[in-house]
Amino acid sequence: MDIIRVAIDGPAAAGKSTVAKIVAEKLNYIYIDTGAMYRALTLKALDSSLQLGAEQPLVDLLHHTDIELKQSENGQLVLLDKADVTAEIRSQKVTNNVSYVAKHPKVRIEMVNRQQALAEKRGVVMDGRDIGTHVLPDAEVKIFLVASVEERAKRRYEENVKKGFPSDLEELKEEIEQRDLIDSKREAAPLIKADDATEIDTTSLSINEVAEQVLTEVTKVASK
Ligand code: CDP
Ligand code: CDP
Repeated sequence: MDIIRVAIDGPAAAGKSTVAKIVAEKLNYIYIDTGAMYRALTLKALDSSLQLGAEQPLVDLLHHTDIELKQSENGQLVLLDKADVTAEIRSQKVTNNVSYVAKHPKVRIEMVNRQQALAEKRGVVMDGRDIGTHVLPDAEVKIFLVASVEERAKRRYEENVKKGFPSDLEELKEEIEQRDLIDSKREAAPLIKADDATEIDTTSLSINEVAEQVLTEVTKVASK
């Protein structure tokens, strides 16, 4: 099969990363979680007590920040200046602040450069908000995953139960709605379906059903 690039976009908790990992494994491609990169920068900015509304200090910080996505036996690790922050970047504090960091155009330019460099030489499955529209506009396969906000909040709730962190379903729903709103309304590369993306509503689909649909799209392209 020719090496192709799979772009997966969509709002929070639509199933992007879960499905992207399965698809990457099946195709023996690398998986690139671009959200993890914005989360890592957000963690460092919060730890440095930076004001997230000001663009230039964030850009300067990013220029001195090393973010590595490393494949390991236990899945993908996120290394921030060589330190393992895989769990820390999923904290509620980072989640509540990441969209304020990701809205700055100059931060995005630097992140997109890094993401494009990661996708240069190999087959990739990359997930995020602007992959099909900005990072890999020529991706051979573009998928846009959606699901009702109720279902997405329920998924995050269940995830938290499994991790042993009880949370409030209504609060999760509000957080997801707020983040989707900022991501969709920002001027720089907003969350939007690319014209040539295939939309899949995952509300009542299992993870494997969604992965199968994505793999079908890959097969269509590969057999052309
Ligand atoms: O997994 P979840 O949907 O909660 O979020 P994520 O993919 O880890 O992304 C976290 C945040 O990073 C998003 O809400 C966006 O603000 C930002 N992001 C972005 O702007 N562009 C991307 N390509 C990926 C993430
Ligand atoms: O990456 P994104 O924020 O879009 O979502 P995710 O982290 O991949 O998925 C959020 C949660 O929903 C995970 O716990 C998945 O196992 C679950 N999920 C699901 O239950 N059914 C699907 N069709 C897709 C995801």
